Amino acid sequence: MSKLAGITALGAYAPSKVLTNADFEAMMDTSDEWIITRTGIKRRHIAAEDEFTSHLAISSVADLIRRHGEGALAGVDMVIVATNTPDALFPATAALVQDHFGLKAGAFDLLAACPGWLYALSVAKAYVESGMCRKVLAIGAEALTKVMDWQDRATAVLFGDGAGAAVVEAVPAPYGLKSFVLGADGSGANQLHIRAVGRCLPSGEPLAEHLYMNGREVYKFAVRVMNTATIEALQRSGLHSDEIALFVPHQANLRIIEAARERLGLPPERVVVTVDEYGNNSTASIPLALAHALDAGRISDGDNLLLVSFGAGLTWAANVLTWGGAWHQ
Ligand code: COA
Repeated sequence: MSKLAGITALGAYAPSKVLTNADFEAMMDTSDEWIITRTGIKRRHIAAEDEFTSHLAISSVADLIRRHGEGALAGVDMVIVATNTPDALFPATAALVQDHFGLKAGAFDLLAACPGWLYALSVAKAYVESGMCRKVLAIGAEALTKVMDWQDRATAVLFGDGAGAAVVEAVPAPYGLKSFVLGADGSGANQLHIRAVGRCLPSGEPLAEHLYMNGREVYKFAVRVMNTATIEALQRSGLHSDEIALFVPHQANLRIIEAARERLGLPPERVVVTVDEYGNNSTASIPLALAHALDAGRISDGDNLLLVSFGAGLTWAANVLTWGGAWHQ
């Protein structure tokens, strides 16, 4: 069997400034009790005034180097930054990261909302396994708090900032990125949006100046798609949920995570939860959760992991992978 692409190095970063639920209580008509009961969120990390997505992305790569050494970046020939909040419409944030680390690599941004980092992993897999690239640096980085309406209690309390980065390259069997499920349903574009250079959706509905979300509709969509996408990814991988050592879902809402975990029949100790600490930081949420799980010693070589995410578009993505196989481990 030819080699699969797999994650051989990981890094993550969250800004040091934290907003607690008590901070929000002081800012608007909300309560710690409401936020915790509805979402499970206690704190979120907020980028500094002069800290943007490229800075967060670079800090996550710096963390990757700290964990794995400079050698982890040697031979990276493509940089992908999955983000909804690029520093600029152009140049790509990925080009800023490429320049910062002096990489001899192509660079582009990828926009697929919160599942963007999983989409980036799928692109990295295709590049590596086709022989087009040797190593891909796949980053999820988000400065979402820059585009929030700080008067809107229904969205402001939910989101945070952060970044995560992975090196993807060929790994020996049985390791690597296995099945992917990637989906989109643009008919739900009106449920979650923010303006860039356009004014309206094709339906004529105006695009929002700040992040707009129909929380109830997105909730229903999330619960449904977390279920269908994970089942399909498991089926495609030939694995049963019993064989999943760790479930790493998008960190948007604890109730959505719990619903997905229960449908999969997994015990609580086999799911990673970081939404209490970070809120929803979109493309950064899964790599940050993976970094936490690694730091806590919850992931070993040979473990099968199940990743899943959902977001604006509407989009979704799920992946089954077998962790390990890195030359430096
Ligand atoms: N504090 C206090 N009350 C709040 C509030 C806050 N921060 N935000 C909203 N409310 C109020 C609403 O105004 C509403 O009041 P009303 O009944 O008087 O109109 C009430 O709480 C209930 O709102 P509702 O939307 O029914 O709450 P909910 O149980 O659906 O929870 C979300 C709201 C946003 C937490 C939930 O819908 C959700 O998590 N949706 C999915 C969001 C998501 O995952 N997004 C990620 C996309 S990547």
